[in-house]
Amino acid sequence: MKIIYWSQSGNTEKMARLILEGIESEGKKAELLEVSSVSLDDVKNEGILILGCPASGAEELEESEVEPFVKSLERNIQGKKVALFGSWGWGNGEWMTEWENRMKSYGATLISEGLTVQECPEGEDEDKCINFGILIAKSE
Ligand SMILES: Cc1cc2nc3c(=O)[nH]c(=O)nc-3n(C[C@H](O)[C@H](O)[C@H](O)COP(=O)(O)O)c2cc1C
Repeated sequence: MKIIYWSQSGNTEKMARLILEGIESEGKKAELLEVSSVSLDDVKNEGILILGCPASGAEELEESEVEPFVKSLERNIQGKKVALFGSWGWGNGEWMTEWENRMKSYGATLISEGLTVQECPEGEDEDKCINFGILIAKSE
């Protein structure tokens, strides 16, 4: 399993680390990778992809690294299981809904609804991230 993320101020990165903690608590392994260090070849053999990006632009994916990477998944992600997560600030979560619909239209199966946390995960939100990791681990 690979957890591939982009994070400007560390909130989505913290989510990624907590998700990893949840996966590892189930005795499973996952690799934590920044999207800038990943190419399509790295994901071709993965059955499960865990992707993280905060709400950016105006309810959009981050445009310089995440958007092109996600676009590259089109026609390369059929039959894979995908879990999406990301932090947000002030919007309505539209970026995540659109991202989910896009992944489904690419032929991926969502393991669950995308996990969204406002700003930095603390308290209950930390538990949500860990539990998301546990859910992903159990779906393997
Ligand atoms: C340029 C920019 C655009 C943003 N656009 C949105 C947005 O459209 N909707 C929203 O809810 N939050 C938006 N945010 C807030 C971030 O999603 C939020 O601060 C998030 O916690 C950042 O995550 P990160 O620390 O992983 O970078 C934006 C932040 C920045 C800097």
